[in-house]
Amino acid sequence: MQADEHLAPLAQRDLMLELDVTYACFVTLRFNLSDIFGHDIAFLAAVVVLLGGAAGAHAQTPGSPAAANGKAIYEQRCVQCHGAGGRGDGAAAPVLIPRPRDFTSAKYKLRTTETGSLPTDDDLIRTIAHGVPGTSMPGWEPFLSPGEIAAVATYVKSFSPRFATERPQGIPTVAASIPGAPSPQSIVAGKAVYEKLRCSACHGTDGKGTGAIATDLKDDEGRPLPATSLAEPWTFRGGATPQDVYLRFRTGMNGTPMPSFVEAATDGDLRNLAAYVLTLARKPVWDMDAAELTAFYQAQAAEAARDPVRRGRYLVQSIGCTFCHTPVRADGSLVDGMLFAGGQRWRAVPFGDFVSYNLTSDKETGLGGWTDDQIKTLVTRGVRRDGSRMIPFPMPWISYANLTPADVSAIVAYLRTIPPITNRIPPPMRPNIVSYLWGKFQLLILKKDLPLLAFPGNAGSGGLPAEVPTKAGGA
Ligand code: HEC
Ligand code: HEC
Ligand code: HEC
Repeated sequence: MQADEHLAPLAQRDLMLELDVTYACFVTLRFNLSDIFGHDIAFLAAVVVLLGGAAGAHAQTPGSPAAANGKAIYEQRCVQCHGAGGRGDGAAAPVLIPRPRDFTSAKYKLRTTETGSLPTDDDLIRTIAHGVPGTSMPGWEPFLSPGEIAAVATYVKSFSPRFATERPQGIPTVAASIPGAPSPQSIVAGKAVYEKLRCSACHGTDGKGTGAIATDLKDDEGRPLPATSLAEPWTFRGGATPQDVYLRFRTGMNGTPMPSFVEAATDGDLRNLAAYVLTLARKPVWDMDAAELTAFYQAQAAEAARDPVRRGRYLVQSIGCTFCHTPVRADGSLVDGMLFAGGQRWRAVPFGDFVSYNLTSDKETGLGGWTDDQIKTLVTRGVRRDGSRMIPFPMPWISYANLTPADVSAIVAYLRTIPPITNRIPPPMRPNIVSYLWGKFQLLILKKDLPLLAFPGNAGSGGLPAEVPTKAGGA
């Protein structure tokens, strides 16, 4: 084995395996993650970060004045996602959709200020306290005192020079007006505003994207950012009260295609529009009875059957394939340019070292030369092409055995779309009989949790792109 001092194992990965299994179970139970967390969200990393943060939190006395040091709080709680330099490039960032905010750009979605303007301090504080629904951005109110939240908000501002030179442009009417309950008239009027302002171009005629003409929208960084489904207001980033929704129309969402409509409509129109939009909500699963749930999941299965690649992408992102089958840097972040190229080395003590496989469609070194059935057999039964069987970890194929056949086909359909990357993986390791029996004895008889470690770098033939440092902490 090569010199390991540069390759300190990534401790948090143990936790990930357990979480992978948990997520596989979620999927198996057909628990609808998207209801709670929004579409396509890979929040595994977020959970790891949170658990890591929560574990670290015991050492600190929340609320003590000494702790209200914005930088220290940031480095304990926010850095994993937002990055040490505030550029939105923390260790967990590559797997998060949407990505954590890049604070150096100072483009904030959730404001009470004019479009293009900076947010107020209160806006930042509110976001940090309540989090951003439908994304991995947690609400920090349960973990941080008001003083700590204010301190970390001040620190976040320090990443952009704009806060030193510009003032947020508040909107007087916004602060003043609290709307009454929406009336039937306001809803009818709001529907007309929806048509007049052509919201359907992006959100579809029904608010769910049906008939939308602008469908491959991107954020200012060029990353795909689909228009929100208006049927799922619990995923609205800025909240789902009539006032929240009105505010998004009034202020727009900086850095995204969602514009401000201040020029195009009156304040009254926008309030009516908010009332109408909130009538588009479907019932959330947690309010459904058994018959409604059955119908809901049948409709979802039909949707998945219509677009298996989309379903497969969702599964692959949420049940861990991406995490384990991509090389990682020393800080644990995935190497973006090598997504799914495999080569991540895992150590399952005492069984041995296992290198994850190249899942790209490369014919020579990836899945390009595999048949659909070979992939399915591997994923659900752990049986390789040569008929040998994998042990049930690191790759948790035992959990995947519970996936429905339609979901397994969807996973294969998505994997087929991954562009080829040449990265030849060393032949699989077969544990020797002594360590195999010793491992099994410890697991089953001594009931021990055995260490599972992951190592940074690429153990395949393809090397790493030049941007990736080879030493921990190196430049
Ligand atoms: C688990 C990952 C994660 C952690 C930890 C995290 N954030 Fe975020 N944060 C995000 C994501 C993702 C977004 C972007 C949400 C979006 O674009 O809709 C975000 C957005 C934000 C925004 C911008 C909201 C806007 O109006 O655009 C602020 C401010 C923010 N985070 C502050 C913090 C602070 C302060 C901490 C630490 C106390 C923190 N975040 C910790 C993931 C995280
Ligand atoms: C050019 C395309 C486009 C148009 C036109 C547009 N939207 Fe959006 N809208 C988006 C995108 C993209 C998002 C997602 C922003 C995000 O998640 O960061 C969004 C988000 C939203 C949200 C969620 C707000 C939140 O807090 O997350 C609502 C509600 C909404 N739009 C309603 C409307 C209505 C009503 C109209 C017409 C007045 C409209 N949009 C026009 C693209 C558009
Ligand atoms: C916890 C990490 C982990 C997760 C999650 C994971 N894998 Fe793996 N996978 C591995 C490792 C490590 C190997 C190599 C195992 C071996 O050599 O015995 C592997 C092997 C494979 C192989 C090739 C086996 C061979 O040598 O012929 C395929 C194909 C594969 N995984 C697909 C997937 C797919 C698809 C998913 C998601 C449904 C997935 N894996 C999830 C770690 C993981």
